[in-house]
Amino acid sequence: MEKSPTGLGQSNLDYSSITLENFPERKVWIKTFGCQMNYHDSDRMAAHLKMLNFSQTEEVEDADLVLFNTCAVRDLANNKFYSQLGELKHLKKKKGKDLIIGVGGCVAQTEGKDLVKKYKHLNFAFGPDTIDAINDMVFRTYAGDDKFSINTWDRSSDFSIETKVNHGTPQAFVNIIKGCDKYCTYCIVPYTRGRERSRRKDEIITDVKRLVEYQGIQEVMLLGQNVNSFGKENGENLSELIMGLDEINGLEILRYTTSHPYDVSDELIAVHGSAKKLSKHLHLPVQSGSDTVLQRMNREYTKEHYLGLLEKLRKSQPEIVVSSDIICGFVNETDEEHQETIDLLDRAQFDFIYSYVYSERSKTRAAKMEDFLTKEVRKSRLHEVQAHQLKIQQKLRQEMVGKTYRVLIEGSNSMKGEVKLKGRTNCNRIIHFKPMMNDHLIERNLKWHWVDVKCTSATALSCQGELLEIYGRRLH
Ligand code: SAH
Ligand code: SF4
Ligand code: F3S
Repeated sequence: MEKSPTGLGQSNLDYSSITLENFPERKVWIKTFGCQMNYHDSDRMAAHLKMLNFSQTEEVEDADLVLFNTCAVRDLANNKFYSQLGELKHLKKKKGKDLIIGVGGCVAQTEGKDLVKKYKHLNFAFGPDTIDAINDMVFRTYAGDDKFSINTWDRSSDFSIETKVNHGTPQAFVNIIKGCDKYCTYCIVPYTRGRERSRRKDEIITDVKRLVEYQGIQEVMLLGQNVNSFGKENGENLSELIMGLDEINGLEILRYTTSHPYDVSDELIAVHGSAKKLSKHLHLPVQSGSDTVLQRMNREYTKEHYLGLLEKLRKSQPEIVVSSDIICGFVNETDEEHQETIDLLDRAQFDFIYSYVYSERSKTRAAKMEDFLTKEVRKSRLHEVQAHQLKIQQKLRQEMVGKTYRVLIEGSNSMKGEVKLKGRTNCNRIIHFKPMMNDHLIERNLKWHWVDVKCTSATALSCQGELLEIYGRRLH
């Protein structure tokens, strides 16, 4: 029996008829749903597939390989995926064996086997911990062995994934911890991403140094479902990692996401005041302002504890802006409990929030709770939360007017025939501004430059500015 190149996709087939050398040029179309982790995983897939001669295409009709990277966290993303997968039946009929379809990510982890059985046009499914074997799976499919589902966990405690970057931008995601042990009662993630496993601090520092030195990376986003748990099993922690990365010459901005309030230590709060490169934005999901709801969610903190964290953070770093996630209409949420969330919004003064109606996920503990709330109540609470937050945001953004921000230009938009550049501030706000050049090459000339922009007007959702100073592609 021949083993496949990475050993993961073992089968009875003779792989020797297909060699990596004779893989012709092909195109892959990747559709990503869900969180930054998934976007990062898709980048990794594309980087691996490059070695099998695949380049990415924006047109699904041109693709030889279609990959979905799925999200299971709420119904909406889930449904979009199922309808897009269904639509591909026609393309598969037209292309036959010239089209391979694979489904990866969080839906594939739990539903992979059923998906492959149910959808005749689907070749294979693979969970989020098998990304690095993507070439093997594609290889195996071309060898004629398809209709498989792989959802094994990578259980090594010292997992090592060198960050792969092939998108030509100075921003990179760097994975520092996988999985989640928190088991919030509403959340499917621990079931799709498995137990927490951290990379080693020194290895991450070496990885980021390499990215900065050889790949022109200036801004790094440290990724994990709960980055605050980083290093627990190795006697390391996030504060030490940040301070180590802060020393890297040429690295301009360091961000991390996502955090759990329970694990925000005093040491980490102090690091927000002392680390030079650390972004002045923190995403700290609260989910609800009601202690009883937080308890039913198994969040392990109270409203006052959360607000106390914000106070300490703002003392340590007066310029910090905080954003959050809110779930509206959790199981049996009462009107009083909902009003506690409105009150929290007033007191927390979030820069922005992501808000969702509660979506029941099978396998979770919340799915087993008896639930009397209706869809309508959930939706109307979501609208109330969103409208309330917009008023707060409007006021906060007004305070930006007249101030000067250093931004990294990420691209441009054409608004009513006028080209405007788009830059991101250190605290993660987007400012649009005129380029001061009447030139079609504006974006090519200025993209990824650092500039100073004075904010001239701001609403809750958008901010306009005026270009003051252009620096080079690197600040130092
Ligand atoms: N690890 C991160 C976020 C994971 S999911 C954290 O703990 O903050 C991203 C967001 O989706 C969550 O913060 C939560 O607000 C929302 N979410 C998760 N499960 C949900 C569900 N069942 N229904 C509605 N929103 C949910
Ligand atoms: Fe889900 Fe909670 Fe883990 Fe976040 S911390 S991924 S919400 S279980
Ligand atoms: Fe979704 Fe999986 Fe991320 S469920 S939010 S893609 S970890």
